Amino acid sequence: MTPYELIKKKRDGLALSKKEIGFLIDGFVNGQIPDYQMTAFLMAVYFKGMSDRECVELTMAMASSGDQVDLSAIQGFKVDKHSTGGVGDKTTLVLAPLVAASGGIVAKMSGRELGHTGGTVDKLESIPGLQIELTRDKFTEIVNDVHVSVIAQTASLAPADRKIYALRNVTATVDAIPLIASSIMSKKLAAGSDGIVLDVKTGRGAFTTSYEKALILAKTMVDIGEGAGRRMVAWITGMEQPLGHAVGNAVEVREAIDTLRGRGPGDLVDLIMELGSDMLLISGIVSSRNKAKSRIADNLANQKGLKRLVDLIIAHGGDPSVVDNPNLLPQPNTKIEVKSESHGYVSAIDSLEVGLASKILGAGRKTKDDTIDYSVGIYLKKKIGDKVKIGDSLAVLYADGDEEKIGPARKKILTAYSFNPNKIDPPKLIYARVTRDGVEKF
Ligand code: URA
Repeated sequence: MTPYELIKKKRDGLALSKKEIGFLIDGFVNGQIPDYQMTAFLMAVYFKGMSDRECVELTMAMASSGDQVDLSAIQGFKVDKHSTGGVGDKTTLVLAPLVAASGGIVAKMSGRELGHTGGTVDKLESIPGLQIELTRDKFTEIVNDVHVSVIAQTASLAPADRKIYALRNVTATVDAIPLIASSIMSKKLAAGSDGIVLDVKTGRGAFTTSYEKALILAKTMVDIGEGAGRRMVAWITGMEQPLGHAVGNAVEVREAIDTLRGRGPGDLVDLIMELGSDMLLISGIVSSRNKAKSRIADNLANQKGLKRLVDLIIAHGGDPSVVDNPNLLPQPNTKIEVKSESHGYVSAIDSLEVGLASKILGAGRKTKDDTIDYSVGIYLKKKIGDKVKIGDSLAVLYADGDEEKIGPARKKILTAYSFNPNKIDPPKLIYARVTRDGVEKF
């Protein structure tokens, strides 16, 4: 068996055996298979896909490519949450402390930015001092103490995904269902939580742009997780425009803090209510979704979620004063208004263009080893349905002052916005809830 033969087999649309998948994953992790051969294989999967069986076997090979976390030292049901990736998706920053404040035990593993979307790990690292690359013992200790911890994938946990994820990010091989499903589920299984709530995004800013594809991805991941003995719920939610107003790193942390103060944007709050209540429900803390929702709403209103964020930041060595004074977060050198050249009602905001604009400003990596500027990003002042006059500010660019970045980013924001002379309703946010029992549409 050689990597060449297996790349060719997949390129020609044939299914690989469990042994062949294991050979590729093990060889890549131990350095015998180089990046260029793995990239060729990923591109072949991108074009030819994988059967359900191959997808499960790829996930299992990746999950067992490193250590499996044993969370049995933590009492109670451990719940995790994962998004397939969106623009402005700061949900975890709000949800993790809020669910912990509501009685859940959140042992969460998060990723870095991927493609045009941001990553929770990068966002959290914009908090001065905050450490996200923790040992497993420290992770267990924090979850035991404050019932919530978010860590980056350590080198020893699903190392196959860690290496493949970084390659996919720079080789246009992100948006393939088998690669997304195996990436997410390998980490989730290795990270050891008992239950997982997934947020599968659909729309122009998502990796699965159509509802049908998002549904396949959701069902695939629910099946993989349930097959491995985990309680699974997957939500299909809209990414027809960025979530909330902030896109970037520090700017999203600020919006998350505002949300935990009860001043969050409606779409983000709606999403949190749905995902959060399922996290409580599968944890067995409440007996109905309605009870779960009111518990989440109470802990948003009484700011217990915000207090738990402070505990989380302290436990991770970060500076908790950013919560009371978000100006202590990294600040951009300059803020530039993007003024509308059209009038009417905002009818679309292309999340993909907004995500790319944020990357151009420096909020994302161009190569695997690039560094991120935490201070830059975008604040959208107008969302779908808002009325706009020529000259109104559509968005603010948070930038480092480099015109070579500002010009193209401004252009992308202007192309991202579409207008309609007639009033438009905001797009649908919640599409469906997928469990082992079936699909509930909204
Ligand atoms: N999140 C992941 O962890 N992996 C993907 O492939 C997409 C989103």
